[in-house]
Amino acid sequence: MKKFLTLAALLATLQLAAQVYLNPNAPLEQRVEDALSRMTLSEKIAVIHAQSKFSSPGVSRLGIPGLWCTDGPHGIRAEVLWDEWNQAGWTNDSCMAFPTLTCLAATWNTDMALLYGKSIGEEALYRGKNVLLGPGVNIYRTPLNGRNFEYMGEDPCLSATMVVPYIQGVQQNGVAACVKHFALNNQEDGRHVVNVTLTDRALYEIYLPAFKAAVQQGQSWSIMGAYNKIWGQYACHNHRLLVDILHGEWGFDGAVISDWGGVSNTDEAIHNGMDLEFGSWTDGLTEGRSNSYDFYYLAQPYLKKIQSGEVGTKELDDKVRNVLRLIFRTSMNPNRGFGSLCSDAHAAAAREIADEGIVLLKNAPVGKKKTAQPVLPIDADKRTILVVGENAIKQMTVGGGSSSLKAKYEISPLEGIRERAALNNTEVRYVRGYVGDIGGEYNGVTTGQDLHDDRSASDLTAEAVAAAKQADLVLFIGGLNKADHQDAEGADRLQYGLPYGQDELISALAQANSNLAVIILSGNAYAMPWLCQVPALVQAWFNGSETGHALADVLFGDVNPSGHLPFTIMPALEDYASHQYGAIAYPGVNNEEEYKEDLFVGYRYADLFGQKKPLRYTAEGREFVIAPPAHKPLFAFGHGLSYTTFQLGKPVRDGNSIRVTVKNTGSRAGKQVVQLYIAPEKSGVIRPVKELKAFQKVALEPGEEKELLFTLTDDMFRYFDADKHDWVTDPSPYKVLLGTAADNVQTVK
Ligand code: BGC
Repeated sequence: MKKFLTLAALLATLQLAAQVYLNPNAPLEQRVEDALSRMTLSEKIAVIHAQSKFSSPGVSRLGIPGLWCTDGPHGIRAEVLWDEWNQAGWTNDSCMAFPTLTCLAATWNTDMALLYGKSIGEEALYRGKNVLLGPGVNIYRTPLNGRNFEYMGEDPCLSATMVVPYIQGVQQNGVAACVKHFALNNQEDGRHVVNVTLTDRALYEIYLPAFKAAVQQGQSWSIMGAYNKIWGQYACHNHRLLVDILHGEWGFDGAVISDWGGVSNTDEAIHNGMDLEFGSWTDGLTEGRSNSYDFYYLAQPYLKKIQSGEVGTKELDDKVRNVLRLIFRTSMNPNRGFGSLCSDAHAAAAREIADEGIVLLKNAPVGKKKTAQPVLPIDADKRTILVVGENAIKQMTVGGGSSSLKAKYEISPLEGIRERAALNNTEVRYVRGYVGDIGGEYNGVTTGQDLHDDRSASDLTAEAVAAAKQADLVLFIGGLNKADHQDAEGADRLQYGLPYGQDELISALAQANSNLAVIILSGNAYAMPWLCQVPALVQAWFNGSETGHALADVLFGDVNPSGHLPFTIMPALEDYASHQYGAIAYPGVNNEEEYKEDLFVGYRYADLFGQKKPLRYTAEGREFVIAPPAHKPLFAFGHGLSYTTFQLGKPVRDGNSIRVTVKNTGSRAGKQVVQLYIAPEKSGVIRPVKELKAFQKVALEPGEEKELLFTLTDDMFRYFDADKHDWVTDPSPYKVLLGTAADNVQTVK
């Protein structure tokens, strides 16, 4: 008997040893093939679609765990019920809210992106998540896009450079990044139905580079298909996008996850590269039968097609391989630690990223008083500070759509300012100024704030003006918020201007007190009819848990601002290229939308200012007429001020190496961003005036000078030739430009 047991044990051990998929040291592809070979047809079908709002099953018989996804991209979303969007009501699911991705992009600092990814990945890990639904890298095409705050700006080079370390930071935890929304989900209006058409050149040069970098350099383990259509086919099962480009051209070996409800056709999903279907019935399954996940497009409908012989299992096996790879890299990753949640280190990271991303747009006295000092940083001798504006007190981590968070805490701007001002014994008064959005709830998470105020706009303005007259310094803190039609998912903004009468209020405050700083919390550009009246302007994004601390750091000069704009701020909506052509270019007519501005997005369009004639050309069978903008930017792409001054030396070029010195010529330590643009001259093809190709951020003590080295590489001189379907080098002469903003560059001789 004893002998028999030993033999049985030996046999079991041998069988286990043969279970290559369980051996973390075996090569990944062997593990995948081994697991695949052991799975039944129904197990394969099960792993390619959701089993709950945010999870998909593994193979319980084989001890293969499932996948738990979470939004993303600014913190780990609170738990919802198994089948519903409603809150699960846990008390241990609050998180650190990190700054929104526009702020991260505005740091122009890849170390910040790595820190961000590492920190949020640790939070995901602690909360038992395998896939973080983010980061987002859709291009800033229009300032009306409600979700721009979740993305990294208008430029392919900036977003591609910043997305890579974010992904690496997340994934070093054994948590997958899921870069989104692939592709061309550049607006919220009509996002489920709009059909985007554009040239291949615009696609490859403007809209795809960040995704490509995410896949090839960041090695993102998953990617999320977008809601919209492209060339008449939904992005989640778009053959060209997923099969030809993502897998074919880029060699992606991860899993394509649908956006929640992004799959709508079984046949296309089978054949066109969709691997993992989520959220198809996003109504809480109230229409559900006994088990609605079985009715997903890639569930029973797919199984039936296989069983009837209508389709084979090749595509299924490929999907399962992609999902298994994702599982081995995440939930079965032997190096996965335990992570951490809301730690002091994460608070410090959130604050540091916000500190570096806040952009000082303007800081110069207005009017004739030449001797007047800049308003910022705040002088310790300012005895009374008046803070005006709803965004000084409004909790902003709740709202905005799927990136809404249940933050463990959120330091409001007013709290941060009060805390810091107390160190100078400065009195801080607050008045509301305007009433914007008093909602404080999203998806069952509430801020607990009561922002009701029934006073009329004129009463609120009168109160603010009277108080402003009594103060040494006025800080107006307004902007957008996360309510519908502001910076929020599901719908675009209705107007370019600031809402709730803020323009009038800012003007009135400027008249009442010349010591005024305007601080705008938003993820988007906006009109500034009051700009010439205002001596200081700060772009402060939505900065999560540490919002108030970071803002106070910058306002009081404890941190020297070093953020630079990741998008261009034009005076009017009509100054953006996507708004030149009427509804067909935005938001679409009968769900059809053409990117008629082609390559001329952001500064690529602003750079045409002053040209006498429109650019007229034919490309890929389409006629383009690009009329120059009527105005210069108010603030150019890449612009950002500091409390110190910097001097860029004369760049020296030696072959492909360019050396340039940067000196801190002021009296405070600070950081400068040096940007390298390539400007083709007399090109035989249509080219933007210049394009960002590299950048570096450098920290300098007062008086310190450092030399930066930039290396020109072949790919910087290429454009996408649609006829050849390849990147080709433009033989035209070109200039190399170095500078600190798109409108502040010098030519490298
Ligand atoms: C959003 C995604 C998000 C998903 C899950 C969708 O509506 O577009 O970005 O990750 O919901 O919440």
